[in-house]
Amino acid sequence: MTVFARREAQRWESNWGSNLGRFITVPRSKPPRIHSAYLGVIRVLLQMPQLFFIGGTGHVGGAVLDRLVELHPNVLVKVLVRTQGKASRLMSKYPKVQTVIGALDSFDEIESSCRAADIVVNTAPDVTHEASYQVILRGMKSRETKGYYIHTSGASLIWDEPKGSKDARVWDDIGDIGDLTSMDVTCTHSATDKIVREAAQEINIAIISPGGVGGLSPSIEHPTPITTPGILLTARAFNSGFQIDEGQNRHSWIHVLDIAEIYLKLIGHALDGNATVEGLQLWGPEAYYFATSEEISFADFITGLVPVLHKHGVIQSTEIKPVSVIDAARASIWGKDYKPDAAPPPEDSWAMHISILYGINMRIRGSRMFKLGWMAERGSVVDTFEDVIAAHLALEQNRGKE
Ligand SMILES: NC(=O)c1ccc[n+]([C@@H]2O[C@H](COP(=O)([O-])OP(=O)(O)OC[C@H]3O[C@@H](n4cnc5c(N)ncnc54)[C@H](OP(=O)(O)O)[C@@H]3O)[C@@H](O)[C@H]2O)c1
Repeated sequence: MTVFARREAQRWESNWGSNLGRFITVPRSKPPRIHSAYLGVIRVLLQMPQLFFIGGTGHVGGAVLDRLVELHPNVLVKVLVRTQGKASRLMSKYPKVQTVIGALDSFDEIESSCRAADIVVNTAPDVTHEASYQVILRGMKSRETKGYYIHTSGASLIWDEPKGSKDARVWDDIGDIGDLTSMDVTCTHSATDKIVREAAQEINIAIISPGGVGGLSPSIEHPTPITTPGILLTARAFNSGFQIDEGQNRHSWIHVLDIAEIYLKLIGHALDGNATVEGLQLWGPEAYYFATSEEISFADFITGLVPVLHKHGVIQSTEIKPVSVIDAARASIWGKDYKPDAAPPPEDSWAMHISILYGINMRIRGSRMFKLGWMAERGSVVDTFEDVIAAHLALEQNRGKE
């Protein structure tokens, strides 16, 4: 029996006499057989561990949710969903999943849902949402028992200058944990990582930090990777492949179905109440898990992508043009209507973030996840391009018809 099941069973055993009358109008003089039938149903409901999911409709979150529902039908899953339409679609695919309508600024709903949940999984954006993260943690801290919080950060924490150059530092989540946990708060993700880490006394926390996430997800709303629209707009603008300088900078990637298994490993340990695996502390201020399964140069990435874009008519030339980050940023705003002399997008814009990504190094080693017994089972991100581009173009077409 899990810690949650045991706790809930004990709570029920001590309260059932007074609680039962509130829910069931069965006189006490009735035969005990009837009581025990009701009792059995209520016991099952009360014994279900609760998991609150923020970002469960996303590319990463949708893959985690899909496996969670499959592997842990005994867990009561509630998903924060932004619209009623998304809630209906989610519940028609997963009838046992419950939804809470709200966004990251729905503080009251988030706080009460986090208080009620034994486990909170969050795969929504963290950057610029610090206030929401304080609320999540406040809700969890107010629980009677110590809950589990699995947070999603990102390896843009360790991005270097976007020069398209090679031989950058490789960051290891065990060997370099001291540096990783003391990064300047101006580094992307570090402010929210810090907020989460500071709650480690009162909550069992773990931070998953992906490199690029590729591949098709079972998510209904976001089947294709978050980077796909920007890359296609940029390619359309140049009508060809592109890279920053020689494109020798290297990125770590992971397939969305592979990263989902890392969340599932941690959720499994939370349900079992495990604190360590092979001497590894699963939770706490150093529980920072880089998620990656391969490292490739941007030149290799774009060399794999160009024939697929060409085949689908997205670009006419298979040339790979060297461009500047600013040009790539303009391109990813304007697409086919690219104007080389247009003002560049603001520094903190998504267009700029994606264009910087083309030229930086993001070299990470996930030593912690191997200790969890995790192994990547899908191939290279390059092998996903055909399916991802076809799916993305089909979505674009459907949206055009709406
Ligand atoms: N994908 C990557 O390559 C990558 C790499 C490093 C780090 N990450 C981190 O992982 C996170 C998830 O990535 P992803 O690819 O799964 O992104 P995604 O497909 O855009 O999913 C984001 C999820 O968060 C939800 N969400 C966004 N803004 C919200 C708000 N204001 N309130 C409530 N929910 C909100 C979305 O809901 P809707 O369905 O309503 O949009 C969706 O469920 C990223 O935000 C990033 O922090 C991703």
